[in-house]
Amino acid sequence: MPAEQPFVHLCEVGPRDGLQNEKSIVPVEAKVRFVEMLAEAGLREIEVTSFVSPKWVPQLADAEEVLARIARRAGTVYSALVPNEKGLERALSCGVRKVSVFTAASEGFARRNINASVAESIERFRPVVAGAHAAGATVRGYVSCIVECPFDGSVRPAAVREVCARLSDIGVDELDLGETIGVAVPDEIARVLEACAAVRPMAELVLHLHDTRGTALACAARALAMGVRRFDASAGGIGGCPYAPGASGNVATEELDYLCTRSGYSTGVDRSRLCEAARFAGAALGRALPSRLLSAEAAGSSCQVARGDAASA
Ligand code: HMG
Ligand code: MG
Repeated sequence: MPAEQPFVHLCEVGPRDGLQNEKSIVPVEAKVRFVEMLAEAGLREIEVTSFVSPKWVPQLADAEEVLARIARRAGTVYSALVPNEKGLERALSCGVRKVSVFTAASEGFARRNINASVAESIERFRPVVAGAHAAGATVRGYVSCIVECPFDGSVRPAAVREVCARLSDIGVDELDLGETIGVAVPDEIARVLEACAAVRPMAELVLHLHDTRGTALACAARALAMGVRRFDASAGGIGGCPYAPGASGNVATEELDYLCTRSGYSTGVDRSRLCEAARFAGAALGRALPSRLLSAEAAGSSCQVARGDAASA
């Protein structure tokens, strides 16, 4: 009997990280359908939107409406970003059961993104975490700029570990390491992961890679080899942070899925349906998406090797 394939959990962040950085505001109906298609493709966790200030991110000002209209599938986690107690209150009133607080390993980015120092942000999150837990919700804690900050320059792995430890102290359930501007190469990611594994086991850390310089898949491959089993990604590779100048989208979910499944891991994702969802997002945005896997398909290149076969042959 063939050995069971290890599972890699892919969290889809396209509807949030992707759409927050688009010039055009995608209509609610298209956002809802995008999320539904992602869930139908087998993504078990989808970061749907953000309950942030609509003045800071107008693209996601329709968070309540989007969440109210999604036909939710049993077993899929629909999460959202919350920067403060007001955001938590809004998220809980929409039935959100997983929220994400977000800070950074660098002061410059924290100040520009959430108008607070890192220490202030942790204090701001304390009641958010407690309130979420009291309501039965779980909390992800993002740490941005794990390798480099667009304002302060390079970031030490020890600084990332320190912020992870502080988030852990206030009770976040999950730590998510954000390579916000897509500069990292595998050795740099390895050093951060080694540092943060002192706070949470490698298999529980989440890695959130942006692909600005085309290095995200190489970093993901190194992380997989080191035992990371949870990744964020966005369908088609859409995304970026409006407060990180020049940063482009996340690693494309279908490319990461390809890397994982062809390397012998299972993800539970139906990649052809995922690609349909990505194409749908591209059509809604009216532009070609950065994913090379989508481009290869559009050019008629098909891949016949079944999941895991490449690894087990
Ligand atoms: P502030 O201006 O310091 O906040 O912003 P404030 O408390 O002074 O409030 C200002 C106004 O915003 C007030 O309204 C508040 O009511 C309102 P006014 O009285 O002026 O009419 N407000 C809110 N409205 C709705 N929902 C809320 C909320 N909070 C305040 N929750 C704040 C501070 C944190 C609110 C602001 O900086 C903010 O919203 N920042 C979010 C920026 C953002 O979303 N960035 C992108 C996401 S992070 C990311 O992409 C990185 C990640 O992907 C990981 C990685 O790649 O590294 C996660
Ligand atoms: Mg991001």
